[in-house]
Amino acid sequence: MMIDQDGRAASLRRRLADELENTGDLRSPQWRRAVERVPRHLFVPAFFQATDAPGRGTLWARVDDREHDDWLELAYRNETWVTQLNGRVTPHDAAEPVQGDPTSSSTLPGLVVRMLEELDVADGMNVLEIGTGTGYSTALMCDRLGDEHVTSIEVDAGVAANAAAALRAAGYAPRLVVGDGLGGVPEHAPYERIIATCSVRRIPRTWIEQTRPGGRILVTMAGWLHGYGLASLTVGEDGVAEGRFLPGTISFMIARPHAAPPVDNEQRSDMIASLADADPRPATVGPDIRQDWTGAFVAQLAVPDAQQLTRRVVAGPWVDYYIDTRSGSIASLTPEPGGGWTVRQSGPVPLWDQVEDAIGRWRQVGSPPHERFRIRTDGRVQTVWVGTGDARLSWDLPAQ
Ligand SMILES: C[S@@+](CC[C@H](N)C(=O)[O-])C[C@H]1O[C@@H](n2cnc3c(N)ncnc32)[C@H](O)[C@@H]1O
Repeated sequence: MMIDQDGRAASLRRRLADELENTGDLRSPQWRRAVERVPRHLFVPAFFQATDAPGRGTLWARVDDREHDDWLELAYRNETWVTQLNGRVTPHDAAEPVQGDPTSSSTLPGLVVRMLEELDVADGMNVLEIGTGTGYSTALMCDRLGDEHVTSIEVDAGVAANAAAALRAAGYAPRLVVGDGLGGVPEHAPYERIIATCSVRRIPRTWIEQTRPGGRILVTMAGWLHGYGLASLTVGEDGVAEGRFLPGTISFMIARPHAAPPVDNEQRSDMIASLADADPRPATVGPDIRQDWTGAFVAQLAVPDAQQLTRRVVAGPWVDYYIDTRSGSIASLTPEPGGGWTVRQSGPVPLWDQVEDAIGRWRQVGSPPHERFRIRTDGRVQTVWVGTGDARLSWDLPAQ
C-alpha cells in the first residue's frame, strides 16, 4: 500500500474513533487505541452494499479495493459491510448486483465496540469469540488483550480462511478454529469471557461449562420471528448463568444450526389449506406487533417454534402466516378493509391465542422494555422473565 493511503487510513480510523466516542459506544482509552490501530480495510477488501431496486427488493452490489475510489472511506464508515450471501456467494462471485440473504459480515463498528465495552475485560483475561466473520472484531480483541488471550471460532471454512489471511496481514495471531461455535472451543477453555457475534435461540451448555466461574457470556438471543435481545450473563460457581438484557435495538444473524427449518412449498400449501375449516375471529393483537422491538421479542417468546411469512391471496390482501412445522400448527392474520385483523388457526397449538395472551399480559404490566428482562440457565432449562411477584411474566426457551 502506498504511504499516502496508509496515512489516509490512519486518519479515517481516528475519525471513526471520534464518531464512536460521540455516539457513546466507545468509552475507554484501551478500546479507542484498538480502533485507532486495527486496519479495518484489510478485513473488508470486498463487500456488498445494499441498493434498493424497485419491485425487486434489496440488491447487493459489490464494492472492492480495485474498482471503487471510495472503498477505503467506506471501509471506515460506521456501517455493517456484508461479505457473504446465502452461505456461499462472495463479492467476487457477483459482477452484477445480486439478491440474497446476508450470512457473514463485518458488523457495525459501533455495535462491535459497544459489545467489547460491555464485555468489561481486564488484562490477562482469555476470551472466546463465536463467529469470526471477517476477523475485524477478533483483531480488536487481539490488540487489547494480546494474541495469546483470544480464541475465535467460525463455522464457515471459506469465511474463516479469509479472516485468517486478513488477521495475518494485519499482524495478529489469535487461535482460530473452524467449526460450530455452539460447541465452544474446549481445548483452550476456560475463558473469562465469551462473546458471540452471531445470535442464538438458547445458550449452549458448553459455553457455561467453558466459562470460568465469575466469567461472563455476552450474546444476542434471537428466534424465528426476528425478535432480538442482547444478554449479558454471569456464570456462577454452581454452573448457573444468570443476567439481564441490555438496552438498544441490536440484531445479529442467527447461528447457522439455530436457523428456522425450511418450509417447502407443498408443506406450506397443505398447512395454509388446513385453515379453510378454521373459525375466523377478530384479532386483539395484530401482526404489526412485530414493529415494536420488545413486542416482537415477547411474541417470539410466546411461540418460539413459529416462523412468519407473508403471502398475497389471489386478487386479495397480503396475509400474514405463522407456521410451526414441529407441531404442525398455523395461524393466519388477514387485514380487514375497515381496519383490524381476522385470525384463523389450525393444528394442536393455537399460535395466535398464545401471542395475544403473552402480549396482553406484557401490556398489563406496563409494556416493560428489554432492559427489564432477565435470563437464567443451568444449561438445560433456560428461562426469560420480567417483573416480580404477581407481575412476573416468564417463558422457557425452546429445548432445541
Ligand atoms: C456478523 S458475522 C461476524 C462478524 C465478525 N465478528 C466481524 O467483526 O467481522 C457472524 C458470523 O457468525 C458465523 N456463524 C454462524 N453460525 C455460527 C456457528 N454456529 N459457529 C461459529 N460461527 C458461526 C457466520 O458464518 C458469520 O461469519
